[in-house]
Amino acid sequence: MFVASTYSKKQIFTDVEPDLVIFHANQLVTMDTTFGAPRINEEMSELAIIHDGAVAVKDERIIFVGTTEELMSKFEFGKIHTKINAKNRLVTPGFVDPHTHVIFGGTREIELSLKINGKTYLEILNEGGGILKTVRETREASLAKLIENGKKILDRMMFYGTTTAEIKSGYGLTTESELKILRAAKILNEEHPIDIISTFLGAHAIPPEYKDNPDDYVDLIISEMIPTVVKEELAEFCDVFCEKGIFSIKQTRKIINRAKRYGLKPQIHIDEIVDTNGALLAAEVKAIQTGHLLKSNDHGLKAMADAGIIATLLPGTPFCLMSNEYAPARKMIQMGIPIAIATDLNPNCWTESMQMIIALTCYNMKLTPAEALSAATINSACALQRQDEIGSLEIGKKADLIIFEVPNYHFIPYHFGINLVSKVIKNGKIVVDNK
Ligand code: NIG
Ligand code: FE
Repeated sequence: MFVASTYSKKQIFTDVEPDLVIFHANQLVTMDTTFGAPRINEEMSELAIIHDGAVAVKDERIIFVGTTEELMSKFEFGKIHTKINAKNRLVTPGFVDPHTHVIFGGTREIELSLKINGKTYLEILNEGGGILKTVRETREASLAKLIENGKKILDRMMFYGTTTAEIKSGYGLTTESELKILRAAKILNEEHPIDIISTFLGAHAIPPEYKDNPDDYVDLIISEMIPTVVKEELAEFCDVFCEKGIFSIKQTRKIINRAKRYGLKPQIHIDEIVDTNGALLAAEVKAIQTGHLLKSNDHGLKAMADAGIIATLLPGTPFCLMSNEYAPARKMIQMGIPIAIATDLNPNCWTESMQMIIALTCYNMKLTPAEALSAATINSACALQRQDEIGSLEIGKKADLIIFEVPNYHFIPYHFGINLVSKVIKNGKIVVDNK
C-alpha cells in the first residue's frame, strides 16, 4: 500500500512564507494518506477533517495544513498576499476525474428519444449510430476544432471543481485520427489549467472498414497504432472496450499485453453490458484501473480485490442508458476493492460535473457522501497513479483545492443538480471565482 512520501518534504517548507492562505474553513477535508492510499473498506469513510481548518500555499505547492490557530501562530498574517476566509464553508481536494472521453466531434442528442422508445445502446451502435456516428464526425473535425470543443468542456469541468482529468482517444479509429485526438489532448494539457493524463483507446469500437475482419483491426492497433503513439509520446495508458460484440477477451489480452511491452499502463472497460470475465482478465494483466463492472462475477471481483485493482465506477452511464442496474459498489467495498468514480464524459453520457456523479453514486449505488468523496479524490488520483501529487491536502502536494459554498461535505450529494463551488484553486492559483 502507498504511504505518502510527501511528509519527508515537511522540513523544506518550514521557513517559507506562503503567498496564499485559506483559513476558518468550517470543514477542511484533507484525505490525509498517512495510513495509505487508495482507501479501502471502512477507510473510505475516514476523511481526516480539520475543523476551523487552514491551508497555506507557496507557488504551486501546499506548505501547511492545520487549524486556523496554528496557521496564525506560524506565519506573519499581514504579509500574506492572498487571504481567503472560508468561514461556514467546506474545503476539499480538487476532484480527479479518472475516466473521460472529452475529445469528440458532433453531438448525439437525437439518441435520447431513441433510448426512451426502447432502443438499446448496442442496437443504436449496430445501426450506425452511437460511437460510430461520433467516429464519423470526429474524423471530419480538424485538430483546431477538437481543441476548441475540448477547451469548452474542460472550462466547465473546472467550473464544477475538477482539477485533473484523464482523456481517452477512441473516436478516430484510424492511426491518423487517433493521433489527432491525442495531439489535441496534449495541446490542451499545455494550454489549460486542468492537468490531463492521456489514454490511447484505439480499441473503442470496430471501425466500419473492418466490420468483416475485426482481427485485422486488432493487428493494425498492435503493429502500427501502439508503436506510433508511444514514439510520439502521446499517451501514458492504453484502454480497451472489452465487451460482447466489441473486443473479445482474447483480443483485449493481445492489445493490452502489447501495450504493456511498449510501456503503456493498462486499463480496461469491462463487463458493462455482459459478463465476459473481464474482471478476471483485469487481474491477470494487472490493470491499474477498470471501468463500468456492472456485470462482473464474484470470482473476477475477488481476483481484482486480491490484486488491488481499482474499480472506477461510472454511474452516469446507466443513468443515461435509463437502466436501473448500477455496479454493485457496496459489495465491492465489502470485498476490499478500491473504488474510484468518474464522469465517463462522452457523447452518450455528457456531464462535466463530478458533483453530479457523487450524487448518482450516493443515490443509486448507496455509497455514503464520505465514501463517494474519497472515491472522487484520493482514490481517483490512485486510478491515475498520481496519489503522491494530488487527491489529498498534504504538505508537498500540489495546491489543487475546492472551496464550496456549503458548510459540510454531506451537502455535495444532498443539494444536487446545481454548482456548489465557490472557488477552485489549481496549482496554487485561483482559476474559478464565483463571487
Ligand atoms: O465508456 N463503453 C464505451 N465507451 C463509452 C461510451 C462511448 C459512446 O457511447 O460514445 C463508455 O461508456
Ligand atoms: Fe468510457
